[in-house]
Amino acid sequence: MVIPELFSSKLIAWYLRHQRDLPWRQTRDPYKIWLSEVILQQTRVKQGLPYYYAFVEKFPTVFDLARAEEQEVLRLWQGLGYYSRARNLQFTARQIVAQYNGQFPDSYKDLLKLKGIGPYTAAAVASFAYKERVAVLDGNVFRVLSRLYGIDTDIASAAAKPLFSGIANRLIPTKDPDLFNQAIMEFGALQCTPANPDCMFCPFHNECEAFLTGRQAQLPVKSKKGNSRIRYFHYVIFRKDDRGGMRKRDQKDIWNGLHDFYLLEDAALLTTGELMAAEPLLPWTEAVAVEEESVVYTHKLTHQQVQAKFWHIRLNEAADVDKVARDFGLTFVESAQAHHLPKPVLIDNYLKKRVFSLSL
Ligand code: ADE
Repeated sequence: MVIPELFSSKLIAWYLRHQRDLPWRQTRDPYKIWLSEVILQQTRVKQGLPYYYAFVEKFPTVFDLARAEEQEVLRLWQGLGYYSRARNLQFTARQIVAQYNGQFPDSYKDLLKLKGIGPYTAAAVASFAYKERVAVLDGNVFRVLSRLYGIDTDIASAAAKPLFSGIANRLIPTKDPDLFNQAIMEFGALQCTPANPDCMFCPFHNECEAFLTGRQAQLPVKSKKGNSRIRYFHYVIFRKDDRGGMRKRDQKDIWNGLHDFYLLEDAALLTTGELMAAEPLLPWTEAVAVEEESVVYTHKLTHQQVQAKFWHIRLNEAADVDKVARDFGLTFVESAQAHHLPKPVLIDNYLKKRVFSLSL
């Protein structure tokens, strides 16, 4: 039996002993807290730390981030992947400056009104910066609670969010809601880990349903891909004279063994500017000319949907084709050759459409 007051005080006591010393835990500045949470949605704590320091140094306030050049933000984000998130970060900063005078809204409800802030981030900022009693819900929280209560509801299902959020919001104390939220995530990250949780030294082994029934490995239940996942593919067709760069796919992913072009995947569709500012392409900006940007092609697969855009990028006279081929893993082939290579239907359809107007 879990008694809420006892659970939160034991959890917080555990946290005060075991917490990692992290810079965003030393501040009540909503801007810095928000920044850290956005970075941590993208990467693990250890990898996220240098990015956090770099952003805080370069953009100490939301005003600095809002007025920065987009290129500068993208450059600092380099290596984190999903460049569209860097763009969203700046979008939200600009919104806060333009509509809120640079003051972060100071409640969960108002934070949620911002376009770039969802329930998790709103709860994190509201509790860490303003001590509002609102529980965060992330993968760690799902895991800890599903084990503690022995709940086998699929955490990928629509029913899971209200169920777990209801429980977490009953457990979170009025006095230290911020510590509780940090603590439950830290507990999930360090003690109640996905594989091999440290049940032997767990303060809850007398009440944890999963431990008492030996179901730690079965909980939480998470179905494989629920609905169709949408992926955003940005294909770059490097062209030199009458040849284009192709590559054979060799990753454990769709279309393994088939041929396509250099591919940059992102969390959303990119503009030409964002594409050219992405880490792999940035060093080549001087050596190429963007000739064409296609419309969006949608391609449905069993469990995913690919939305793809194609860019034709011509290498100029000075560009070293061999280096491009090496850097991007490409082979430069003529149109006829390209047509004979096995390709995903998406690529084949694209080339067929293009062949009359402009050969590869
Ligand atoms: N992951 C997400 N938010 C975090 C936080 N505030 N501290 C540590 N890890 C986190």
